[in-house]
Amino acid sequence: MVNSKMLWGGRFSATPKGAVRAFLSSENVALDARLVPYDIEGSMAHVAMLHKQGILKKQEAAPILKALQQLSSRSQKNEFHLDAELEDVHMNVEAEATKLTSEAKKMHTARSRNDQVSVDTRLYLRDEINKTSKALVLLIKEIAFLSKRKTIFPSYTHMQVAQPITLSFYCRAYADAFSRDFARLSECYSRINLNPLGAGAVAGTTWNIDREHTAKLLGFSGVQHSPLDVVTSRGEMEAELIFALTMLLTHTGRIAEDICFLSAKRLAILSDATSTGSSMMPQKKNPDPMELLRGKTARMHGLLMHSLSLMKGLPSGYNMDSQESKYAVMHALDTAQECIPVLCEVLATIDFDPEAIKEELEKGYACATELADLLARKGVPFRSAHEITGKLVKGCVAKRKYLSTLTANEVSAVSGMKITDAELKGVLNVDKTSRMHSPISPEFISPMQKAVSEREEKLTAAKKLLEKEVKQITG
Ligand code: ARG
Repeated sequence: MVNSKMLWGGRFSATPKGAVRAFLSSENVALDARLVPYDIEGSMAHVAMLHKQGILKKQEAAPILKALQQLSSRSQKNEFHLDAELEDVHMNVEAEATKLTSEAKKMHTARSRNDQVSVDTRLYLRDEINKTSKALVLLIKEIAFLSKRKTIFPSYTHMQVAQPITLSFYCRAYADAFSRDFARLSECYSRINLNPLGAGAVAGTTWNIDREHTAKLLGFSGVQHSPLDVVTSRGEMEAELIFALTMLLTHTGRIAEDICFLSAKRLAILSDATSTGSSMMPQKKNPDPMELLRGKTARMHGLLMHSLSLMKGLPSGYNMDSQESKYAVMHALDTAQECIPVLCEVLATIDFDPEAIKEELEKGYACATELADLLARKGVPFRSAHEITGKLVKGCVAKRKYLSTLTANEVSAVSGMKITDAELKGVLNVDKTSRMHSPISPEFISPMQKAVSEREEKLTAAKKLLEKEVKQITG
């Protein structure tokens, strides 16, 4: 028996059921639920363009557009649910529209689900990139706020104390890293923001369509020209975006690890509201949210590999494998959007113990390089200054004392040159030698805010244009 619901039923005397039906559609339809508003929007622009080109008469286009408007308001009220029997969002929207008007049987003219899924995905990804970018800007703002606190901070190489820095110095590193993540997201956005409609199933269409017009109505900056490339590149923008999100979560994961490490040494103190206790050991205060944040990066690696593996070795053209790319990109976006605010909250409430940090630096002989530099500035070749300072450190290690307890006489004796007390104090004081204090300025953040607002304004303007054109047709 033919499943009469199937829009492609003509050449079939049976259609998938049971396990095969569920395999094809169940999970897909759950993911596609997010694409409903975008599928409707894309269809509206397509129908409006078909009318402009004289392919659909006004009395054909108008009822379809009205039906789509109805579906849109039902979807906004959460009253549009996808039927898994109908495979995907595209067939669901067309079937529902056809229930409202038989003219909707014409809406798929000059279109395939292959270019349709690409348009839906792009519209969805644009919004999600903007949402993620705004969350990222809030995180950078939180870091900028933290950078105003004048606190000495340790730096490490090989997890051994290196040199004294400041909290602002540390913050600047991650503000820079996150601004690169922001730029990567923006680059993804610009490649995603091209119109795929008109690519058809794989070879375009002989209908006299206007791809530039659909692009304008949907706020795309242009058209992705090669139909074969539109269809074959499915998964590429997804993989690229997942890479950008994975790098972002690599950065949040590294901060999370730093916080775990610093709180284990009691140099950083997490707020009670961002840590958890042990069910057995009453004294424990564990950085669970930060460990989970570190762990989430692993999931992203999985999703990135998933998205890359999907494309490898696929033949040109459409292949159903690519449906799996939706799973990867949607979960990657969910994970990133879940992680960013958690780090914001931790950074907003974290404290540091400057006394403990000073001791950590002293214990790690953090000023040794400054001492070697002092000797070098006074004419000792740096390599010799390095060796002399190394001997002084060795002596301190043996006597279990800090570098700052060295006297000018001791240093003069080992180095063979006159060092004054003042000179020595200048280089062996962790406060004096710590690097950079300037907080991150608002000018660092405002171009990013502006970039997202401009993108959103363009999308709003395109929505208005589409509304206007739909109104002209529906009268
Ligand atoms: N649900 C499908 C997807 O996400 C839409 C395209 C289906 N095309 C096809 N020829 N089966 O890829």
